[in-house]
Amino acid sequence: MTDKNKQDWGNYWQGRTGNSRTGDNSGEALVGVGIEHNKKLAEFWTSCFEGLNKNSKILDMACGAGSVLRHAKANGFTNLGGVDISNEAVSAMQREFPNAAGIVAPVDCTGLLDASYDLVVSQYGFEYAGSNRQVLTAAREMARLVTNKGQFIALCHIKEGGIEQEVSGHLRDIKNMTKPGFIAASKALFLALDAAEKFPSLATKTAYEKAAQALAEPRDKLIAWINTRQGSDSEIHTLGQHLYSGTIDLFTRRKAFLLDDIIDWLDGMQSEIDAYKGRMQSMRQSALSENEARNILAVFEGVGFKTYKPEQFYLAGDDKPAAWILRASR
Ligand SMILES: C[S@@+](CC[C@H](N)C(=O)[O-])C[C@H]1O[C@@H](n2cnc3c(N)ncnc32)[C@H](O)[C@@H]1O
Repeated sequence: MTDKNKQDWGNYWQGRTGNSRTGDNSGEALVGVGIEHNKKLAEFWTSCFEGLNKNSKILDMACGAGSVLRHAKANGFTNLGGVDISNEAVSAMQREFPNAAGIVAPVDCTGLLDASYDLVVSQYGFEYAGSNRQVLTAAREMARLVTNKGQFIALCHIKEGGIEQEVSGHLRDIKNMTKPGFIAASKALFLALDAAEKFPSLATKTAYEKAAQALAEPRDKLIAWINTRQGSDSEIHTLGQHLYSGTIDLFTRRKAFLLDDIIDWLDGMQSEIDAYKGRMQSMRQSALSENEARNILAVFEGVGFKTYKPEQFYLAGDDKPAAWILRASR
C-alpha cells in the first residue's frame, strides 16, 4: 500500500465531500454519482439487518465517512466498527459515530481478531484494495473476521454498470476540458505579463503578446466547453466555470495579488481537476466483472461459507445496475 493510497481519501473522496464549491458537506464519498442518499440503498441495507440481534457487531470495510454504519445506526445497532486506509476517513466516521471502533488499516490486513464481527459489510469499498490479488486477500481477511454464524454482505462497483458509464462520461469531459491547456497557457501569460511590467523591453513585450496569443485558443475552447454544458451540475462543469471566472478575476485584479499566489491558485485548480480525475479513474478500475465477483465469493466458499450467486443491484429508474450484491454466510 503506497502513501498515495492512504492519501486518496483526503485528496479526493473527502475532497469531494468537503467541497464548498459544490455546496456538499455531507461527509459522503459518492455524492458525485448521486447515490448515498438514495432510498433504494437505505432499503437494501435495512433488509440486510433484518432478523439480526441488535447487539450484533457490524464492521464496515473501507468505510469512508461511514455510509453503511449510518443505516446500521438508523436500524438500532450500536456495536459498530469501521476500517479505512485513510486516517481522515476514520476520523470523519468517528465524528459521526463516536462510539464506533475506528481502524486505520488496509482492508487486506486489518490486524483485527479472528471471528470478531457478526456482520462484515462493505459499500463500494474493499474492491479499492488494489490489484486482483489484493482484492482476493481482502476477501480472505473479511472472511477471517466473520463470527461463526455471521455474514458478509457487500455492494461493489460493477463493470459496465450505470456508475461506470457515468464515470466514463466524466472522464471524457475532463479530457475535453483540459486538452486545450488553459491552465498552462494562463500561467505562461501571467509570468510573461509580470516580466513585461517589471522589466519593460521589446523582448518582454513580445513574449507577453505571444503568451496572450497562445492563450486565445485554449480560452475560447474552455468557454465553448462551459457553454455547451450550461445547466449541468456535474462537478467538473463547476470546476471548469470556476477556473475560467477565477482566472479572469485574477487577471482583472492582478495588482492585488502576488504572482506566486496567482500561480499557486492555478496549480491548485490543476490539483483539483487531477483529484477529480483520480477519483473517477479509481471508481472505474475497481469495477468488478461477474467472474471477478464470483472469484471473491469463491474465497469465502474455500473457508466454509455458504455463498449466493452475485446479484445485480439497481437504483430506482436506472436501466443499468449500480452494483454487485455479494453475500456469504457461515
Ligand atoms: C468510494 S469510497 C466509499 C466509502 C464508503 N464505503 C461509502 O460508501 O461512502 C472508497 C473508500 O475506500 C477507502 N480505501 C481505498 N483503498 C483502501 C484500502 N486498501 N483499504 C482500506 N480502505 C481503502 C478509501 O479511503 C475510501 O474511503
